[in-house]
Amino acid sequence: MSEATDPTSAGTDVPWWRRGVVYQVYIRSFADGDGDGTGDIEGLRSRLPYLRDLGVDAVWINPWYQSPLADGGYDVTDYRVIEPRYGNVEQAERLIAEANGLGIKVIADLVPNHSSDQHVWFQEAIAAAPGDPARSRYHIRDGRGPDGAEPPTDWASVFGGPAWTRLDDGQWYLHLFAPEQPDLNWDHPEVRDEFHAVLRFWLDRGIDGFRIDVAHGLVKDPTFPDLGAETQQILGSPRKANHAHWDRDGVHEIVRGWREILDGYDDRMMVAEAWVAPNRLSLYLRPDEYHQSFNFSFLESPWDAEQFGTVITEGAAAAAEVGSTSTWVLSNHDVMRETTRYGLPNDTNWRTWPVTGPVDALDVDLGRRRARAAALLFLGLPGSAYIYQGEELGLPEAWDLPAEVLDDPVWERSGHTQKGRDGCRVPLPWTADGPSLGFGDGKPWLPQPIGWSDLAAEVQADDAASSLSLYRMALALRRRWAAADEELEVLDLGADVVAYRRGSGMTCVVNMGDEPIDLPEHTEILLRSDPAGDGRLAPDDAVWLR
Ligand code: NOJ
Repeated sequence: MSEATDPTSAGTDVPWWRRGVVYQVYIRSFADGDGDGTGDIEGLRSRLPYLRDLGVDAVWINPWYQSPLADGGYDVTDYRVIEPRYGNVEQAERLIAEANGLGIKVIADLVPNHSSDQHVWFQEAIAAAPGDPARSRYHIRDGRGPDGAEPPTDWASVFGGPAWTRLDDGQWYLHLFAPEQPDLNWDHPEVRDEFHAVLRFWLDRGIDGFRIDVAHGLVKDPTFPDLGAETQQILGSPRKANHAHWDRDGVHEIVRGWREILDGYDDRMMVAEAWVAPNRLSLYLRPDEYHQSFNFSFLESPWDAEQFGTVITEGAAAAAEVGSTSTWVLSNHDVMRETTRYGLPNDTNWRTWPVTGPVDALDVDLGRRRARAAALLFLGLPGSAYIYQGEELGLPEAWDLPAEVLDDPVWERSGHTQKGRDGCRVPLPWTADGPSLGFGDGKPWLPQPIGWSDLAAEVQADDAASSLSLYRMALALRRRWAAADEELEVLDLGADVVAYRRGSGMTCVVNMGDEPIDLPEHTEILLRSDPAGDGRLAPDDAVWLR
């Protein structure tokens, strides 16, 4: 890693991921190199200079493996093959090498809880007779009631509907997500061995780390008890101790096996997507388990100073307790983009709002202003920050995509009560003109909303007041003022203000109230979320001072 992009260049000897900025690439929608309307590895490779100029330390690429894309690639057919629409393994290796050459690490997304129903193991399983060992790599069981016509348990799929689907021969298979995503049986030694081999396969090809999907899943209660009235949600921690399929103690032994493999290589990392109660998170971060775990509290918090303050204090303390750093996340490929989320009243359920409205509840300008302030809030904190592609462009949610283009299984499985996650997965606008605004030569797999020309990266790059310029300046300043140490002092500047001071002497202040406030004493303003702001700090603005 070159000195210019090394967050540890302050002379400390800390691993890159502790304070790094990770840029999340939803590969299907980032850049299309071959004109088929779907993003790919070559498209991403062509845009590496953009990511270097933005100033990120790493990219995390959503699943790129062979997949029918029934859930955007979280349904994997072969973990050693790249989905042909995205490229091939040679291209992946070249991408990793070139990114590394620019000082950018590459994190892959591993999906161990479930495979695709097209995976050879599942195909073998359903071709075999009930009781055949080929079935035992998945959870395939007899049903209940007369003729076994009732599912084995009352478990619900995270995407809606039951978590069991019946096979033609009468048995049922478990899928905590879509029916195209059967859950693997992690008690089976071949499942464990296979994932060890897959980890080594990618580590040998130079991958710098893994984001582990549904890290709190994997292990199921072998007695398969009913859950009762508890409902499922795509994002959210289990509310029950000793839950039948989330956050079971058995997952830790599995993780330790993976960690042992990573420790055999230099400088690699694993970050867990673990939706667990705060008091359980530290278990995943023990020295022989994950390096980091996502802290989703930020993206769950409404625009409220008290709640953001709590999230910051608790997040930093929880990570420090186990010697890790927090990962700050404002958005990702599963949630409404914050430019739209923050433009809705705090009590709005943004998952259902695109269907139920009211449409005029959305204040677009307010959302944009708050999203800029939130950027300074999260990028100034100690630890690592995850930026979701397009967040740096201030992209809004494409919440009004027509039903006929929706691809997310959530739309159908929720009985059309939730549009799902396509609105944050629309292909990026790179240029002001062209049929897909520079995304690629073909028709993009999801349509880009009218008006996105003005948000294109090339347009914003030339505008000092743009969201892209704000992110670039913030990431450059972050190296010196926010990534140089891990000290944090939360300041009390009033009930409507979130403020903290860093060990470097930088102070971040965000005004979440309705009235302008005075800036605390300072010698220099490093950055303001509103470039036109001067004097006092207006509502929904943020500032970095020293
Ligand atoms: C979490 C991923 O972020 C989400 O996109 C996916 O649908 C589920 N895991 C299932 O793999």
